[in-house]
Amino acid sequence: MKKNTKLYETVAALLSPGKGILAADESDPTAGKRLAMVHLPNKPENRQDFREILFTAPDIEKYLSGVIMYDSSIRNTTDDGTPFPDVLTAKGIVPGIKVDLGTSELQGFKGEVVTQGLDNLTDRFEEYYDMGARFAKWRAVITIDEDKTPTDEAIKINSIMLARYAQIAQTSSIVPIVEPEVIHAGDHSIQRAELVTTRTLQILFQTLMEYKVDLAGLILKSSMVLAGDVYSEQSSPEEVANATLRTFHMSVPYECAGIVFLSGGQTPERSTKNLNAIGKMGEQPWPITFSFSRAIEEPVLKAWEGKKENEGKAKEVLLEVSKQNSLASLGKL
Ligand code: 13P
Repeated sequence: MKKNTKLYETVAALLSPGKGILAADESDPTAGKRLAMVHLPNKPENRQDFREILFTAPDIEKYLSGVIMYDSSIRNTTDDGTPFPDVLTAKGIVPGIKVDLGTSELQGFKGEVVTQGLDNLTDRFEEYYDMGARFAKWRAVITIDEDKTPTDEAIKINSIMLARYAQIAQTSSIVPIVEPEVIHAGDHSIQRAELVTTRTLQILFQTLMEYKVDLAGLILKSSMVLAGDVYSEQSSPEEVANATLRTFHMSVPYECAGIVFLSGGQTPERSTKNLNAIGKMGEQPWPITFSFSRAIEEPVLKAWEGKKENEGKAKEVLLEVSKQNSLASLGKL
């Protein structure tokens, strides 16, 4: 594919050392699950208030390079009518957009799913670009179960969808984040997680190269490699760091612009500790940082609890959590 230099400018901004990406891109139903944690109803006003706290918090641009939004939030505004993407752009934070439309059953493959959302993607990107978006995210879901799951067939079809999305994004001057999330929930060992994640990333990058995606204009969003959440032996930060980096060295071409992590349902503290252990392993062929959702938003939600008088405190918590993750990305905690 023809090289598009706009992509490299965005990549460089997103991967500035010591910064990471906030994934505030929950669909409306998933945003409802977050609000329910602090007993708030899933009303548009509550979703807007929470996002306004996140996006207007002072100084977050020191630690956050980008924010991923969802279709309804990229169209949303602050109380004074400023569009959310404009608020972010004014701070020097790159606005991003989740463009996949969720998963549906992969017939013939019990329990496996394929992500939807390629229809009209060129037109959707054009509109999002006009709104200020310069990068995007597409999430595929890979579940570890019994011996045969995930199947290579499920990984391959999801990789083809990711490759097609990435092609269209790059043609639209939008940096694609490709996210094959290997699900943390389950009773698998860290060894099994490592094998599955390595296989997934190998098939993904093989496919991205087959479809001529420009890897220098693309960011990988990965799970950390760790034992399933109900497995008897939980992985230490050092084990997670070793297994995760071994996986990347076995599967991610050096041309790939960078790697960011999802938190995957780990506690905020554990996500940060594991990131710090990875940062402590020293320089890697790719910039590596965070792109957490729950691990950043949960402490902010708990500080806010839906109360006007707590908004200032909630913004301070966001700044502090972002700072801790920034330090962790550098291995400096
Ligand atoms: P979590 O950090 O909550 O796993 O979310 C990140 C993400 O973007 C999942 O698609």
